[in-house]
Amino acid sequence: MNQFALFREHPQLIYFDSAATCQVPDVVMQAFTDYYQQHHANVHRASHQLGRAATSALETARSTLASFIGASAANVALLPSTTAALNGLAQQVPVKWQAGDEILLSTAEHHANILPWQRLANEHQLILRYIPIDPETGDLGDWQALLNERTRVVSITAASNITGALFSITPLLLAAQARGAWTIVDAAQAAAHTSIQVTELHCDALVFSTHKVYSVNGCAVVYLSDALRDSMAPFQVGGGIVQRVTFTEAEFIDGIHKFEAGSPNTAAAVAAATAVTWLQKQKDVAHLAQLRQQLVRELHQRPWLTVLPSGAHATPTVAFYSDAFQAFDIAAWLDQHQIAVRAGHHCAQLLLQQWQLPAVVRVSLGAYNTASQITRFLETLDAGWALFGSD
Ligand SMILES: Cc1ncc(COP(=O)(O)O)c(C=O)c1O
Repeated sequence: MNQFALFREHPQLIYFDSAATCQVPDVVMQAFTDYYQQHHANVHRASHQLGRAATSALETARSTLASFIGASAANVALLPSTTAALNGLAQQVPVKWQAGDEILLSTAEHHANILPWQRLANEHQLILRYIPIDPETGDLGDWQALLNERTRVVSITAASNITGALFSITPLLLAAQARGAWTIVDAAQAAAHTSIQVTELHCDALVFSTHKVYSVNGCAVVYLSDALRDSMAPFQVGGGIVQRVTFTEAEFIDGIHKFEAGSPNTAAAVAAATAVTWLQKQKDVAHLAQLRQQLVRELHQRPWLTVLPSGAHATPTVAFYSDAFQAFDIAAWLDQHQIAVRAGHHCAQLLLQQWQLPAVVRVSLGAYNTASQITRFLETLDAGWALFGSD
Protein backbone atom coordinates (compact mmCIF):
# COMPACT_ATOMS: atom_id res chain seq x y z
CA MET A 1 0.00 0.00 0.00
CA ASN A 2 2.72 2.48 0.91
CA GLN A 3 4.33 2.01 -2.51
CA PHE A 4 1.33 3.76 -4.12
CA ALA A 5 0.94 7.54 -3.94
CA LEU A 6 -2.83 7.22 -4.43
CA PHE A 7 -3.26 5.15 -1.28
CA ARG A 8 -0.89 7.32 0.77
CA GLU A 9 -3.10 10.27 -0.14
CA HIS A 10 -6.37 8.35 0.32
CA PRO A 11 -5.82 5.64 2.94
CA GLN A 12 -9.57 5.02 3.27
CA LEU A 13 -10.01 4.26 -0.43
CA ILE A 14 -10.61 0.59 -1.24
CA TYR A 15 -9.79 0.01 -4.87
CA PHE A 16 -11.38 -3.21 -6.12
CA ASP A 17 -11.19 -2.47 -9.85
CA SER A 18 -7.76 -3.76 -10.82
CA ALA A 19 -9.14 -5.93 -13.63
CA ALA A 20 -10.05 -2.69 -15.39
CA THR A 21 -6.78 -0.96 -14.62
CA CYS A 22 -4.16 -1.29 -11.90
CA GLN A 23 -2.81 1.50 -9.75
CA VAL A 24 0.80 2.40 -10.45
CA PRO A 25 3.59 1.94 -7.85
CA ASP A 26 6.14 4.70 -7.20
CA VAL A 27 8.98 2.81 -8.85
CA VAL A 28 7.05 2.68 -12.13
CA MET A 29 6.10 6.39 -11.97
CA GLN A 30 9.74 7.16 -11.26
CA ALA A 31 10.92 5.22 -14.33
CA PHE A 32 8.32 7.05 -16.44
CA THR A 33 9.44 10.47 -15.15
CA ASP A 34 13.16 9.62 -15.37
CA TYR A 35 12.74 8.70 -19.01
CA TYR A 36 11.18 12.08 -19.84
CA GLN A 37 13.65 14.01 -17.68
CA GLN A 38 16.82 12.29 -18.83
CA HIS A 39 16.50 10.29 -22.04
CA HIS A 40 13.57 11.60 -24.04
CA ALA A 41 13.99 11.87 -27.82
CA ASN A 42 12.49 10.26 -30.88
CA VAL A 43 13.77 6.73 -31.40
CA HIS A 44 15.47 4.84 -34.24
CA ARG A 45 15.88 7.81 -36.58
CA ALA A 46 17.87 10.33 -34.54
CA SER A 47 21.58 10.60 -35.23
CA HIS A 48 22.37 12.26 -31.88
CA GLN A 49 23.31 10.83 -28.50
CA LEU A 50 19.94 11.48 -26.89
CA GLY A 51 18.20 9.69 -29.75
CA ARG A 52 20.48 6.71 -29.24
CA ALA A 53 19.73 6.73 -25.49
CA ALA A 54 15.97 6.77 -26.15
CA THR A 55 16.32 3.95 -28.70
CA SER A 56 18.32 1.94 -26.22
CA ALA A 57 15.68 2.55 -23.51
CA LEU A 58 12.93 1.33 -25.85
CA GLU A 59 14.83 -1.76 -26.97
CA THR A 60 15.88 -2.66 -23.41
CA ALA A 61 12.23 -2.36 -22.35
CA ARG A 62 11.19 -4.59 -25.24
CA SER A 63 13.67 -7.27 -24.12
CA THR A 64 12.42 -7.17 -20.52
CA LEU A 65 8.77 -7.37 -21.63
CA ALA A 66 9.59 -10.21 -24.02
CA SER A 67 11.30 -12.28 -21.34
CA PHE A 68 8.28 -11.70 -19.04
CA ILE A 69 6.32 -13.96 -21.42
CA GLY A 70 9.19 -16.26 -22.41
CA ALA A 71 9.63 -14.67 -25.84
CA SER A 72 12.52 -13.16 -27.75
CA ALA A 73 12.57 -9.39 -28.35
CA ALA A 74 12.47 -10.12 -32.08
CA ASN A 75 8.91 -11.42 -31.57
CA VAL A 76 7.49 -8.60 -29.45
CA ALA A 77 5.90 -5.46 -30.86
CA LEU A 78 4.82 -2.62 -28.56
CA LEU A 79 1.48 -1.14 -29.56
CA PRO A 80 -0.84 1.32 -27.79
CA SER A 81 -3.37 -1.20 -26.41
CA THR A 82 -4.83 -4.69 -26.55
CA THR A 83 -7.74 -3.19 -28.50
CA ALA A 84 -5.40 -1.71 -31.13
CA ALA A 85 -3.51 -5.01 -31.40
CA LEU A 86 -6.64 -7.15 -31.82
CA ASN A 87 -8.02 -4.76 -34.46
CA GLY A 88 -4.69 -4.94 -36.29
CA LEU A 89 -4.59 -8.72 -36.10
CA ALA A 90 -8.15 -9.06 -37.41
CA GLN A 91 -7.38 -6.79 -40.36
CA GLN A 92 -4.03 -8.30 -41.29
CA VAL A 93 -3.99 -11.95 -40.26
CA PRO A 94 -2.69 -13.60 -43.43
CA VAL A 95 -5.66 -15.64 -44.61
CA LYS A 96 -7.06 -15.59 -48.14
CA TRP A 97 -10.63 -15.33 -46.90
CA GLN A 98 -13.39 -17.17 -48.66
CA ALA A 99 -17.07 -16.93 -47.82
CA GLY A 100 -17.91 -19.57 -45.23
CA ASP A 101 -14.47 -19.62 -43.57
CA GLU A 102 -14.75 -19.71 -39.80
CA ILE A 103 -13.33 -17.87 -36.81
CA LEU A 104 -13.58 -19.44 -33.39
CA LEU A 105 -14.00 -17.28 -30.28
CA SER A 106 -15.64 -17.89 -26.90
CA THR A 107 -18.64 -16.28 -25.27
CA ALA A 108 -16.30 -14.99 -22.54
CA GLU A 109 -14.49 -12.60 -24.88
CA HIS A 110 -14.14 -8.93 -24.10
CA HIS A 111 -15.70 -6.84 -26.87
CA ALA A 112 -12.15 -5.99 -28.01
CA ASN A 113 -11.84 -9.61 -29.12
CA ILE A 114 -15.28 -9.83 -30.74
CA LEU A 115 -15.98 -6.65 -32.66
CA PRO A 116 -12.87 -6.67 -34.91
CA TRP A 117 -13.76 -10.24 -35.95
CA GLN A 118 -17.42 -9.34 -36.48
CA ARG A 119 -16.38 -6.52 -38.80
CA LEU A 120 -14.08 -8.86 -40.72
CA ALA A 121 -16.81 -11.52 -40.90
CA ASN A 122 -19.24 -8.99 -42.36
CA GLU A 123 -16.69 -7.92 -44.97
CA HIS A 124 -15.98 -11.49 -46.18
CA GLN A 125 -19.16 -13.44 -45.26
CA LEU A 126 -17.31 -15.47 -42.63
CA ILE A 127 -18.88 -17.53 -39.86
CA LEU A 128 -18.14 -16.69 -36.23
CA ARG A 129 -18.43 -19.57 -33.80
CA TYR A 130 -18.43 -19.15 -30.04
CA ILE A 131 -17.29 -21.71 -27.50
CA PRO A 132 -19.82 -21.57 -24.64
CA ILE A 133 -18.73 -21.19 -21.03
CA ASP A 134 -20.10 -23.90 -18.76
CA PRO A 135 -22.76 -22.23 -16.56
CA GLU A 136 -22.19 -24.76 -13.77
CA THR A 137 -18.41 -24.65 -13.53
CA GLY A 138 -17.44 -21.44 -15.31
CA ASP A 139 -14.85 -23.36 -17.36
CA LEU A 140 -14.43 -23.32 -21.12
CA GLY A 141 -17.13 -25.55 -22.61
CA ASP A 142 -16.91 -28.09 -25.40
CA TRP A 143 -14.94 -26.80 -28.36
CA GLN A 144 -14.14 -30.02 -30.27
CA ALA A 145 -17.26 -29.88 -32.42
CA LEU A 146 -16.71 -26.17 -33.18
CA LEU A 147 -13.18 -26.57 -34.57
CA ASN A 148 -13.26 -27.87 -38.14
CA GLU A 149 -11.54 -27.73 -41.52
CA ARG A 150 -13.01 -24.25 -42.21
CA THR A 151 -11.57 -22.75 -39.00
CA ARG A 152 -8.91 -20.24 -40.03
CA VAL A 153 -8.42 -18.34 -36.79
CA VAL A 154 -8.94 -19.15 -33.11
CA SER A 155 -8.84 -16.03 -30.94
CA ILE A 156 -9.49 -16.68 -27.29
CA THR A 157 -9.13 -15.04 -23.92
CA ALA A 158 -6.91 -16.72 -21.33
CA ALA A 159 -9.19 -15.51 -18.52
CA SER A 160 -12.69 -14.11 -18.18
CA ASN A 161 -12.75 -10.44 -17.27
CA ILE A 162 -16.09 -11.04 -15.49
CA THR A 163 -15.67 -14.23 -13.45
CA GLY A 164 -11.87 -14.37 -13.33
CA ALA A 165 -11.88 -17.98 -14.61
CA LEU A 166 -8.52 -18.92 -16.07
CA PHE A 167 -9.23 -21.16 -19.03
CA SER A 168 -7.25 -24.20 -19.99
CA ILE A 169 -6.64 -23.14 -23.60
CA THR A 170 -3.49 -25.03 -24.58
CA PRO A 171 -5.31 -28.17 -25.86
CA LEU A 172 -7.54 -25.95 -28.02
CA LEU A 173 -4.57 -23.99 -29.39
CA LEU A 174 -2.66 -27.18 -30.15
CA ALA A 175 -5.63 -28.70 -31.97
CA ALA A 176 -6.20 -25.45 -33.90
CA GLN A 177 -2.57 -25.21 -34.98
CA ALA A 178 -2.65 -28.85 -36.07
CA ARG A 179 -5.54 -27.90 -38.38
CA GLY A 180 -3.54 -24.99 -39.78
CA ALA A 181 -5.51 -22.21 -38.04
CA TRP A 182 -3.79 -19.11 -36.65
CA THR A 183 -4.08 -18.95 -32.86
CA ILE A 184 -4.39 -15.70 -30.92
CA VAL A 185 -4.54 -15.29 -27.14
CA ASP A 186 -6.00 -12.27 -25.37
CA ALA A 187 -3.94 -12.28 -22.16
CA ALA A 188 -5.19 -8.91 -20.88
CA GLN A 189 -6.69 -10.48 -17.74
CA ALA A 190 -4.19 -13.29 -17.27
CA ALA A 191 -0.88 -11.45 -17.58
CA ALA A 192 -0.77 -10.10 -14.02
CA HIS A 193 -1.78 -13.40 -12.43
CA THR A 194 -0.20 -16.34 -14.24
CA SER A 195 3.23 -17.06 -15.53
CA ILE A 196 3.00 -16.95 -19.32
CA GLN A 197 5.43 -18.86 -21.52
CA VAL A 198 4.33 -18.26 -25.09
CA THR A 199 6.26 -21.20 -26.47
CA GLU A 200 4.36 -23.59 -24.19
CA LEU A 201 0.97 -22.09 -25.09
CA HIS A 202 1.19 -22.88 -28.83
CA CYS A 203 -0.09 -19.48 -29.87
CA ASP A 204 0.85 -17.41 -32.91
CA ALA A 205 -0.04 -14.16 -31.18
CA LEU A 206 -0.58 -13.09 -27.57
CA VAL A 207 -1.48 -9.61 -26.39
CA PHE A 208 -1.92 -7.73 -23.13
CA SER A 209 -2.12 -4.10 -22.08
CA THR A 210 0.49 -3.04 -19.58
CA HIS A 211 -1.92 -0.83 -17.58
CA LYS A 212 -3.28 -4.15 -16.29
CA VAL A 213 0.14 -5.10 -14.91
CA TYR A 214 0.65 -2.02 -12.70
CA SER A 215 1.95 0.28 -15.42
CA VAL A 216 0.73 3.38 -17.23
CA ASN A 217 -1.66 3.48 -20.20
CA GLY A 218 -0.49 3.53 -23.80
CA CYS A 219 1.42 0.28 -24.17
CA ALA A 220 0.51 -3.30 -25.06
CA VAL A 221 2.84 -6.24 -25.43
CA VAL A 222 2.14 -8.07 -28.68
CA TYR A 223 3.89 -11.41 -29.19
CA LEU A 224 3.98 -12.69 -32.79
CA SER A 225 5.44 -16.07 -33.74
CA ASP A 226 8.12 -16.04 -36.46
CA ALA A 227 5.58 -17.41 -38.94
CA LEU A 228 2.92 -14.81 -38.21
CA ARG A 229 5.36 -11.91 -37.92
CA ASP A 230 6.98 -12.72 -41.25
CA SER A 231 3.81 -13.35 -43.22
CA MET A 232 1.64 -10.51 -41.88
CA ALA A 233 1.55 -6.98 -43.33
CA PRO A 234 2.00 -3.94 -41.03
CA PHE A 235 -1.16 -2.93 -39.12
CA GLN A 236 -0.55 0.73 -39.88
CA VAL A 237 1.75 2.35 -42.41
CA GLY A 238 3.85 5.48 -42.00
CA GLY A 239 7.24 6.66 -40.82
CA GLY A 240 9.89 4.33 -39.46
CA ILE A 241 8.89 1.14 -41.26
CA VAL A 242 9.89 1.72 -44.87
CA GLN A 243 12.89 0.62 -46.90
CA ARG A 244 12.00 2.70 -49.92
CA VAL A 245 9.10 4.88 -51.03
CA THR A 246 8.25 5.80 -54.62
CA PHE A 247 5.44 8.04 -55.82
CA THR A 248 3.10 5.08 -56.02
CA GLU A 249 4.23 2.42 -53.56
CA ALA A 250 6.48 1.46 -50.66
CA GLU A 251 8.67 -1.40 -49.54
CA PHE A 252 8.59 -2.16 -45.85
CA ILE A 253 11.30 -3.32 -43.49
CA ASP A 254 11.28 -6.89 -42.23
CA GLY A 255 11.03 -7.92 -38.61
CA ILE A 256 8.99 -6.85 -35.64
CA HIS A 257 9.53 -3.09 -36.08
CA LYS A 258 7.30 -3.08 -39.16
CA PHE A 259 4.34 -3.20 -36.74
CA GLU A 260 5.39 0.06 -35.05
CA ALA A 261 4.83 2.78 -37.64
CA GLY A 262 5.11 6.30 -36.24
CA SER A 263 6.66 7.49 -32.98
CA PRO A 264 6.26 4.85 -30.28
CA ASN A 265 5.30 5.53 -26.68
CA THR A 266 8.79 4.95 -25.30
CA ALA A 267 7.99 6.25 -21.81
CA ALA A 268 5.09 3.78 -21.50
CA ALA A 269 7.35 0.94 -22.64
CA VAL A 270 10.03 1.89 -20.10
CA ALA A 271 7.40 2.11 -17.34
CA ALA A 272 5.95 -1.27 -18.39
CA ALA A 273 9.32 -2.99 -18.22
CA THR A 274 9.81 -1.57 -14.71
CA ALA A 275 6.29 -2.74 -13.77
CA VAL A 276 6.78 -6.36 -14.82
CA THR A 277 10.13 -6.45 -12.99
CA TRP A 278 8.37 -5.07 -9.90
CA LEU A 279 5.47 -7.50 -10.30
CA GLN A 280 7.76 -10.52 -10.48
CA LYS A 281 9.27 -9.50 -7.13
CA GLN A 282 5.90 -9.11 -5.38
CA LYS A 283 5.24 -12.82 -4.80
CA ASP A 284 1.65 -11.71 -4.25
CA VAL A 285 0.10 -14.81 -5.80
CA ALA A 286 -0.60 -16.62 -2.53
CA HIS A 287 -1.80 -13.42 -0.85
CA LEU A 288 -4.29 -12.63 -3.61
CA ALA A 289 -5.48 -16.24 -3.91
CA GLN A 290 -6.20 -16.24 -0.16
CA LEU A 291 -8.06 -12.94 -0.36
CA ARG A 292 -10.13 -14.28 -3.22
CA GLN A 293 -10.99 -17.42 -1.24
CA GLN A 294 -11.99 -15.31 1.77
CA LEU A 295 -14.19 -13.14 -0.42
CA VAL A 296 -15.88 -16.03 -2.24
CA ARG A 297 -16.47 -17.97 0.99
CA GLU A 298 -18.11 -14.95 2.62
CA LEU A 299 -20.22 -14.05 -0.41
CA HIS A 300 -21.54 -17.62 -0.60
CA GLN A 301 -22.88 -17.22 2.94
CA ARG A 302 -25.26 -14.48 1.81
CA PRO A 303 -28.38 -16.16 0.41
CA TRP A 304 -29.57 -12.94 -1.20
CA LEU A 305 -26.79 -12.93 -3.76
CA THR A 306 -25.36 -15.35 -6.32
CA VAL A 307 -21.66 -15.68 -7.07
CA LEU A 308 -20.76 -16.48 -10.68
CA PRO A 309 -18.81 -19.74 -11.16
CA SER A 310 -15.14 -19.26 -11.99
CA GLY A 311 -13.71 -22.60 -13.02
CA ALA A 312 -10.89 -24.61 -11.53
CA HIS A 313 -8.44 -21.70 -11.42
CA ALA A 314 -9.13 -17.99 -11.36
CA THR A 315 -7.57 -14.56 -11.24
CA PRO A 316 -8.47 -12.56 -8.10
CA THR A 317 -11.69 -11.35 -9.71
CA VAL A 318 -15.16 -12.28 -8.43
CA ALA A 319 -18.57 -11.41 -9.86
CA PHE A 320 -21.99 -11.64 -8.24
CA TYR A 321 -25.54 -10.35 -8.54
CA SER A 322 -28.67 -10.11 -6.47
CA ASP A 323 -32.26 -10.19 -7.69
CA ALA A 324 -33.31 -7.85 -4.92
CA PHE A 325 -30.41 -5.36 -4.79
CA GLN A 326 -29.47 -4.17 -8.29
CA ALA A 327 -25.85 -4.24 -9.38
CA PHE A 328 -25.67 -0.51 -10.14
CA ASP A 329 -27.26 0.31 -6.77
CA ILE A 330 -24.72 -1.89 -5.00
CA ALA A 331 -21.83 -0.18 -6.82
CA ALA A 332 -23.23 3.28 -6.08
CA TRP A 333 -23.72 2.42 -2.38
CA LEU A 334 -20.16 1.08 -2.11
CA ASP A 335 -18.82 4.12 -3.93
CA GLN A 336 -20.44 6.36 -1.30
CA HIS A 337 -18.28 4.46 1.20
CA GLN A 338 -15.07 4.83 -0.82
CA ILE A 339 -15.13 1.31 -2.19
CA ALA A 340 -14.55 1.18 -5.95
CA VAL A 341 -16.13 -1.80 -7.72
CA ARG A 342 -17.65 -2.21 -11.18
CA ALA A 343 -21.24 -2.94 -12.16
CA GLY A 344 -22.62 -3.77 -15.59
CA HIS A 345 -21.75 -6.07 -18.46
CA HIS A 346 -18.00 -5.33 -18.24
CA CYS A 347 -17.62 -5.09 -22.05
CA ALA A 348 -18.33 -8.82 -22.27
CA GLN A 349 -22.05 -8.89 -23.03
CA LEU A 350 -22.03 -12.32 -24.67
CA LEU A 351 -21.25 -14.17 -21.46
CA LEU A 352 -24.11 -12.48 -19.61
CA GLN A 353 -26.40 -13.17 -22.58
CA GLN A 354 -25.37 -16.85 -22.66
CA TRP A 355 -26.03 -17.18 -18.92
CA GLN A 356 -29.16 -14.98 -19.12
CA LEU A 357 -27.92 -12.77 -16.35
CA PRO A 358 -28.56 -9.13 -15.59
CA ALA A 359 -25.75 -6.70 -14.85
CA VAL A 360 -23.32 -8.08 -12.29
CA VAL A 361 -21.01 -6.55 -9.70
CA ARG A 362 -17.32 -7.26 -10.18
CA VAL A 363 -14.74 -7.12 -7.41
CA SER A 364 -11.21 -7.38 -8.76
CA LEU A 365 -8.26 -7.41 -6.42
CA GLY A 366 -4.73 -6.11 -6.78
CA ALA A 367 -1.42 -6.29 -4.94
CA TYR A 368 -2.43 -3.42 -2.61
CA ASN A 369 -5.62 -5.04 -1.25
CA THR A 370 -5.84 -6.54 2.24
CA ALA A 371 -8.01 -8.89 4.31
CA SER A 372 -9.32 -6.00 6.40
CA GLN A 373 -10.50 -4.29 3.20
CA ILE A 374 -12.50 -7.43 2.32
CA THR A 375 -14.06 -7.27 5.79
CA ARG A 376 -14.98 -3.58 5.40
CA PHE A 377 -16.40 -4.30 1.94
CA LEU A 378 -18.62 -7.10 3.31
CA GLU A 379 -19.82 -5.00 6.24
CA THR A 380 -20.70 -2.15 3.87
CA LEU A 381 -22.45 -4.53 1.50
CA ASP A 382 -24.52 -5.95 4.36
CA ALA A 383 -25.43 -2.47 5.58
CA GLY A 384 -26.60 -1.63 2.05
CA TRP A 385 -28.66 -4.81 1.90
CA ALA A 386 -30.26 -4.01 5.27
CA LEU A 387 -31.26 -0.57 3.97
CA PHE A 388 -32.18 -1.24 0.34
CA GLY A 389 -32.49 -4.96 -0.20
CA SER A 390 -35.78 -6.80 -0.08
CA ASP A 391 -36.56 -10.50 0.04
C1 LIG B 1 -9.92 -9.61 -21.58
C2 LIG B 1 -9.72 -8.21 -22.08
N1 LIG B 1 -9.40 -8.02 -23.36
C3 LIG B 1 -9.19 -6.79 -23.87
C4 LIG B 1 -9.33 -5.68 -23.09
C5 LIG B 1 -9.11 -4.33 -23.70
O1 LIG B 1 -7.93 -3.78 -23.19
P1 LIG B 1 -7.56 -2.25 -23.52
O2 LIG B 1 -8.74 -1.43 -23.09
O3 LIG B 1 -6.34 -2.00 -22.69
O4 LIG B 1 -7.30 -2.17 -24.98
C6 LIG B 1 -9.67 -5.81 -21.76
C7 LIG B 1 -9.87 -4.62 -20.90
O5 LIG B 1 -10.55 -4.66 -19.91
C8 LIG B 1 -9.87 -7.12 -21.23
O6 LIG B 1 -10.21 -7.32 -19.96
